[in-house]
Amino acid sequence: MSKVAIIGCGAIGSTIAKAIDSGLVKAELIAIYDIVIEKCVDLSRSMMRMKPLICTDLECLLINKPDIVVEAASQEAVKSHVPYILEKGVDTVVLSVGALLDPQVMERIREASVKGRSRLFVPSGAVCGIDGLKALSIVGFKKVKLITRKNVKSVDEKSLLNLGYKPSDITDSTVVFKGSAEEAVVKLPFNINVAATLKLATDSEVEVEFIVDPKTPRTVHELIAESEASRIRVIVENVPHPDNPKTSYLAALSAISLLKRLIEERVVIGT
Ligand SMILES: NC(=O)c1ccc[n+]([C@@H]2O[C@H](COP(=O)([O-])OP(=O)(O)OC[C@H]3O[C@@H](n4cnc5c(N)ncnc54)[C@H](O)[C@@H]3O)[C@@H](O)[C@H]2O)c1
Repeated sequence: MSKVAIIGCGAIGSTIAKAIDSGLVKAELIAIYDIVIEKCVDLSRSMMRMKPLICTDLECLLINKPDIVVEAASQEAVKSHVPYILEKGVDTVVLSVGALLDPQVMERIREASVKGRSRLFVPSGAVCGIDGLKALSIVGFKKVKLITRKNVKSVDEKSLLNLGYKPSDITDSTVVFKGSAEEAVVKLPFNINVAATLKLATDSEVEVEFIVDPKTPRTVHELIAESEASRIRVIVENVPHPDNPKTSYLAALSAISLLKRLIEERVVIGT
């Protein structure tokens, strides 16, 4: 049976761990790691079948040789841990996709994966249409645009303050950011992984508009992509994850679906 280890025992990491524990993903959860150890302990206590090793460092996470490590922690965790894991020959799933737009990080990841003969996987996350974008990237794009609308409660407060907005002052729909995907992942590191995923899937300039809307109960991503082969318009209306309103529930489900594909599927559907 495939052995999985998880970095980050928050909303996404815990949802994935529970999917393994329930047997939905046919794997063994061998280790979990979080900078806040209580998060690991709480998650481990909630498990019915699995008794993962609780780790406070990366060596511990790798000691029992996982087949797949899932990163569901932070951009910092990607930068400091993922190249090392790949170099050790372990396939890795990354959720904190924004980190991958840093060219130096991507270069280290590419080198490490060649050295370790391992692969990095990025789930579609909180957006849909990645299959079509990957296919269209063969002919290129005239335009790729992402318009994201989030409730103020789902937006990281510190990021908003850095953009010059006090959350309590936003009483109406307000565009708080317009710019490239590269700028978006730096200015809104906890809220705009989707922009990074689109950038990686299209290998094209991605215009991002981020709207804070106190009236929307959902996180809405509208993706517009124009190419000579197709015009794509996708609107995804996501329910916030019950344990972390900054994260869409779909992002956790997407990671579970990717794990099932990597571990179980003999017939693979979709690009
Ligand atoms: N790809 C997508 O579409 C998508 C969607 C939503 C969230 N995300 C990203 O996925 C990641 C996890 O999201 P979440 O909602 O579970 O977050 P969360 O805040 O609920 O949980 C993150 C956990 O990781 C731990 N952590 C942070 N840095 C760490 C490090 N360096 N080493 C070990 N543990 C660390 C934290 O203590 C926390 O328990 C975030 O980076 C988030 O931005 C991606």
